[in-house]
Amino acid sequence: MEQDIKKVLASEEEIAQAVKRLGAQISEDYKDKNLLLVSVLKGSVVFMADLMRAITIPCQIDFMSVSSYGSGVKTSGVVKILLDLNNPVAGYDVVIVEDILDSGLTLSYIISNIQSRSPASIKICTLFDKPSCRQVPIEADYVGMKVPDEFVVGYGLDYNEKYRNLPYVGVLKPEIYEKP
Ligand code: IMP
Ligand code: MG
Repeated sequence: MEQDIKKVLASEEEIAQAVKRLGAQISEDYKDKNLLLVSVLKGSVVFMADLMRAITIPCQIDFMSVSSYGSGVKTSGVVKILLDLNNPVAGYDVVIVEDILDSGLTLSYIISNIQSRSPASIKICTLFDKPSCRQVPIEADYVGMKVPDEFVVGYGLDYNEKYRNLPYVGVLKPEIYEKP
């Protein structure tokens, strides 16, 4: 795995610091609210597991799985719900937990979908943000780190379902995904 990484973008320590900061901020902002964390599978599962433990107020969790990428590195624009939330969100202050905000197509679909179920509020927390890649105007309310327009893997993020278990985040060598 390691030999496929061109460079490390966020070390374990840097990620841990960002997660701690986001957890503290959310704990402060939602102390009088009805917090529901919605993790977008599978990419955000590692982030979710760490973020929820950095949150010091009561919260509930739920999961949703959508696909937009298939196996490539560029977004298809087509979003499909593969797994829906278990419980109604009406009355909850929803924070969507995402691994990376890229074109924004996935999140804008998820936002409008959840919005239609009458939550009390809805915000976005993304560990990584690629602001230069946006195709729809959408911004996260909580951002761990901004990253350049490069394909990154690790800490939940995959290429072809691989590299999710790398404990840090790195840029994948282009020859890995440019292979014929
Ligand atoms: P968007 O719809 O283009 O914003 O894409 C969001 C989803 O695409 C993320 O939740 C990731 O699963 C995936 N994605 C976007 N950029 C990357 C990347 O650099 N590495 C791995 N997955 C990515
Ligand atoms: Mg993915």
